[in-house]
Amino acid sequence: ISVIDHFDRFTIVFDISISIIGGLIVHQLIPMLKEKFIKAQLWGYDLNKRNSREVKVAESQGVIAAGIFLVLMFIMIAVVFAEHLHPEGVFPNHKFVEYLAALLSICCMVLLGFADDVLDLRWSVKLLLPLFASLPLLLVYFANYHSTTIILPKPVRPYLGQQWNLGILYYVYMSMVAVFCTNAINILAGVNGLEVGQSIVIACSILVFNLIELQGANSEEHLFSLYFMIPFIACTIPVLIRNWCPAEIFVGDTLCYFAGMTFAVVGIIGHFSKTMLLFFIPQIINFLLSVPQLFKFIPCPRHRLPRLDPDVNKLNPSIVEFKKKDLKLLGWLMLRFFSITKFIRYREFTNNDNEIMISTTNFTIINTVLCWCGPLHEETLSRILMLIQIVFGSLLTFFIRYYLVTFFYDS
Ligand code: UD1
Ligand code: MG
Repeated sequence: ISVIDHFDRFTIVFDISISIIGGLIVHQLIPMLKEKFIKAQLWGYDLNKRNSREVKVAESQGVIAAGIFLVLMFIMIAVVFAEHLHPEGVFPNHKFVEYLAALLSICCMVLLGFADDVLDLRWSVKLLLPLFASLPLLLVYFANYHSTTIILPKPVRPYLGQQWNLGILYYVYMSMVAVFCTNAINILAGVNGLEVGQSIVIACSILVFNLIELQGANSEEHLFSLYFMIPFIACTIPVLIRNWCPAEIFVGDTLCYFAGMTFAVVGIIGHFSKTMLLFFIPQIINFLLSVPQLFKFIPCPRHRLPRLDPDVNKLNPSIVEFKKKDLKLLGWLMLRFFSITKFIRYREFTNNDNEIMISTTNFTIINTVLCWCGPLHEETLSRILMLIQIVFGSLLTFFIRYYLVTFFYDS
């Protein structure tokens, strides 16, 4: 690491040290506070356990990790910006404002995520929350006169030119990144350990990417992202330990939103939102697969998580049933498309009133994995989904970013 100086190195070591302490505090706090959450009615049943209706599991424990994360990031201000307190240095005001705006956006998102856990908001409202939370960041980006120009890939340059100034569309793109990252994690959920597990895999991938890029021209941006990723990983590992199968706690929408917003923020400020989105390949596939249900072309039950077969203690894909005549043309085409591509399995049958019914597995990659290799024990399913995240989210992205990209971009 040649580009960063000894001060940056000290800052990284300091960040790692306080992150370890922060992680240990989260680890201690969760068992201390979970009863309080249950008393405040923040609990849920672990739906895929044999004794599911007997044990209340504390919800929204992600808020503990998020709270400690924010404290760590506040402490980091004193160190990251201390160098510039020297009279001879020029204080980097724009960087400082960006740092604070990033924290404000994450903080707003945690608050709104927690509100969602308490109030159980409707889907249309849930989708909009990240839009509000991303405003501080977008407006600071605007006030700092940041570029809204994108470089086009080599193959299209003869037709469309070298670069495009997207103007206002760039802001739309950035808010969509925030909306996508948060919700994509929240809808790839329902198996113990999955929400926080995928977040940690993505965070580690961003961390590795930042470390590689520290030697490059944009080392400052990647250093910035690194300062966020280290405490994030440290504070969420204790949550994973307790949320892993069999879950002692649930992470809540708070954690999904907190994680998604943290990734969106570092991707936007670090100017690597495209690579960051590639780490979300499994989430992108899961989102595209979910479109028919999210946009009501096919009925979407409150929970799409897999269904337990209590006799063998293994999970099967969950099913949704509806009348064939209620299906519109577009819904039918989507059903056929995902059935031919083997993402879902459906069958037709006649009910007691002689109506033709359709019974289909829910449209998530969790159910797809069960269609392909189920029935599986919950922990095995979590492990397979983690492996998918590592192979198709992380390894594939590094291959695309450092090998395939040479065909599309100059560096
Ligand atoms: C999202 C999914 C929903 C999925 C749910 C599970 C969409 C559109 N929504 O909804 O299909 O069922 O997440 O989190 O895809 N739970 C378990 N085991 C787990 C995790 C959660 O049983 O490992 C149950 C618990 O009862 C828990 C509840 O799910 O209380 C939490 O659900 P919540 O996060 O509120 O659901 P959504 O995010 O709205
Ligand atoms: Mg959720």
